[in-house]
Amino acid sequence: MFQIEVLLSPALLPYHQVQNKHVIVVDILRATSTIVTAINEGANHVKTVLNAEEAAELKGEGYLSAGERNGAKMEGFDMGNSPFECMEGKVLNRKLALTTTNGTKCFNAAQEAGAKTILAGSFLNLDATVDWLINHPADCIVLCAGWKNKVNLEDTLYAGLLTQRLIDSNVATTEDDGALMAMDVLQMAGSDFADYLKKSSHYQRLSHLHHHEDMVYCLKQSTIEVVVGMKDNVLVKFL
Ligand code: MLT
Repeated sequence: MFQIEVLLSPALLPYHQVQNKHVIVVDILRATSTIVTAINEGANHVKTVLNAEEAAELKGEGYLSAGERNGAKMEGFDMGNSPFECMEGKVLNRKLALTTTNGTKCFNAAQEAGAKTILAGSFLNLDATVDWLINHPADCIVLCAGWKNKVNLEDTLYAGLLTQRLIDSNVATTEDDGALMAMDVLQMAGSDFADYLKKSSHYQRLSHLHHHEDMVYCLKQSTIEVVVGMKDNVLVKFL
């Protein structure tokens, strides 16, 4: 049996031991949903960068620049952070340099903290991620991207569902209050996640930016069968 911890905010990372643990970074709306979609759509890899300058430098190496701040596409970038911008062959065989308000920073933080493995978690590839973790048993940390170090509902909901799925598979257990709280949110959400999340801050924020279709898409469960993780400092399909 392995242990699961849930960090409801990246600000909690310094207070947890990370070495030798799998870290599942989750930013449902929308960074990890977009990353998983891009890899599933044939992107060569996604490199998470901290700012626009890093993304601009990588354009010279053939990268597409992608990203948002406060949900809006960054000026001068090839694309924003919508999963729909990764479809219809737009990223096939392409390298993406992605920077977002919260999610991409978590990948860099998990690397610096010495994680054993770093995965991109999303509802879209939930089953594939659960199966991978079952087949690669080790203590896990679910790192919720939240919003500017504040807790958010959608990442917490994912963390509760992933935790519950691993416990129900008889491979994991938890004594972590963050994980227990996340599972309580899962219980409160019921079966209609979209209805439950209408009150969430980022759902409201993205609605004002007319990204409603992104929210509907990012809440779909297990429509993508790839596992996405960090290898040689970029996010790729784990075979
Ligand atoms: C984030 O980093 O919090 C999200 O990716 C923001 C967004 O895409 O709207």
